[in-house]
Amino acid sequence: MKFHVLTLFPEMIERGLMSGIIGRAAENKIISLDTVNIRDYTLEKHGKVDDYPYGGGAGMLLQAQPVYDACRAVSGDRKVRTVYVTPQGRPFDQRLARELAGEEELILLCGHYEGIDERVLEEVVTDYVSIGDYILTGGELAAMVIIDAVARLIPGVLGNGSSAQEESFHNDLLEYPQYTRPRVWRDKTVPSVLLTGNHAEVTRWRLERSVERTMCARPDLYEKYSQKQCLIRRLSRDKRNNIHLMESLSAGSGEILYASGEDAAVCDRDHGVCMVKASSPEAGLRLLEECPKDARWYFVSRDLAERSLREKGFAAICECSQFLYTRREPLPVRHKDIRRLGPENLEYICSRYPSISPAYGKDRLLAGALYGAFAEQQLVGFAGVHSVGSVGMLYVEEAYRGRGLAASLEAYCIDRVLESGRVPYVHVPESDPAAAHIQEKLGLYRAGDRFCWMERQSETS
Ligand code: ADE
Repeated sequence: MKFHVLTLFPEMIERGLMSGIIGRAAENKIISLDTVNIRDYTLEKHGKVDDYPYGGGAGMLLQAQPVYDACRAVSGDRKVRTVYVTPQGRPFDQRLARELAGEEELILLCGHYEGIDERVLEEVVTDYVSIGDYILTGGELAAMVIIDAVARLIPGVLGNGSSAQEESFHNDLLEYPQYTRPRVWRDKTVPSVLLTGNHAEVTRWRLERSVERTMCARPDLYEKYSQKQCLIRRLSRDKRNNIHLMESLSAGSGEILYASGEDAAVCDRDHGVCMVKASSPEAGLRLLEECPKDARWYFVSRDLAERSLREKGFAAICECSQFLYTRREPLPVRHKDIRRLGPENLEYICSRYPSISPAYGKDRLLAGALYGAFAEQQLVGFAGVHSVGSVGMLYVEEAYRGRGLAASLEAYCIDRVLESGRVPYVHVPESDPAAAHIQEKLGLYRAGDRFCWMERQSETS
């Protein structure tokens, strides 16, 4: 990924980011970072880039011409997402960091003085972003914050072992306290549970501390967390039929749109997915009305699908069954050469699996959620974990079918889901009885309800 920073203080960015993890990633050419001095583009012979605001008022404004020319020097005629860092912008958060990490190239425009002439902002800026409700002396620190948070999501930036994949904001909870050696420091001892080696106890202790911290420091996050937990508990009474809603909520990708009695609607806004469960098709139709209009994909029960396909602007994509893996032990994987895929595999994935759009494929690859099976050093198949948490996107090259590769890929994905503490589940199209057979052989259980993936038709189609 390429970052370009337009600034009056390029050395500030270079000094701030060229050392440490981001500097190393730039050195290793995993990302590139270049600075453009806006002053180099002024047509004013004394190098002036600012002037007084029309209508009066304190301070000076950056003029339109040097900003415009600096920007065009980077982007030329290409459309490059251009972020103006300003306290007037959309609040920066982990979701926006993930979204920006999906871009090939990003321009960050740093303001100074009292701001920038509005006319050039209208011409070049695609996003206005603020890093918090306070005013800095310039945009450089904000740009550095954004670059750091975005760059660490690029595969390879954090090094091989660690990865920021699938990380939510710790499921709406703050991080628990951590300790390292020595065991006793200034008479303070490490909590004894961390020394027991009992994994389950440690996990429970960490969750309790996270909850405590969140309650005290971030009551807003805690409120969201406890609403989700409440709905998850209710849904768990019929886990096989509700696992998709439960997993989307507990993985942190799903937000509650509506929850009352038997009815619930959960939305993954990042990926434009809504899941609706309703006591009757009529209640379901009302819930579909509540879903954001820009959400494109809908997962609903078959009877609600029938009604909404007739009455509303939806098209059916796939009638499917839901299979659930209820055990905790990992599955054996027969094929030994299965590895995590990276952005370099995007073209292969999209060409073999046409319903994966380039944007979604890239999102999944960046999340480290697609895995490839290799034979004779060639990529011959893949499977992965969807943004909502289900295992899918299974493909095996024709010449390699019938050798158990599909089952190996599925088992591998199921093991990765288990490893992350989640419950594996799969959506199998009715049109693919062979895939249903694989699930049963692997030991997954079919949910009683029948489901359907639908797509919202755009206004113009
Ligand atoms: N420039 C000055 N203050 C800022 C802030 N809080 N966020 C983004 N850019 C800024």
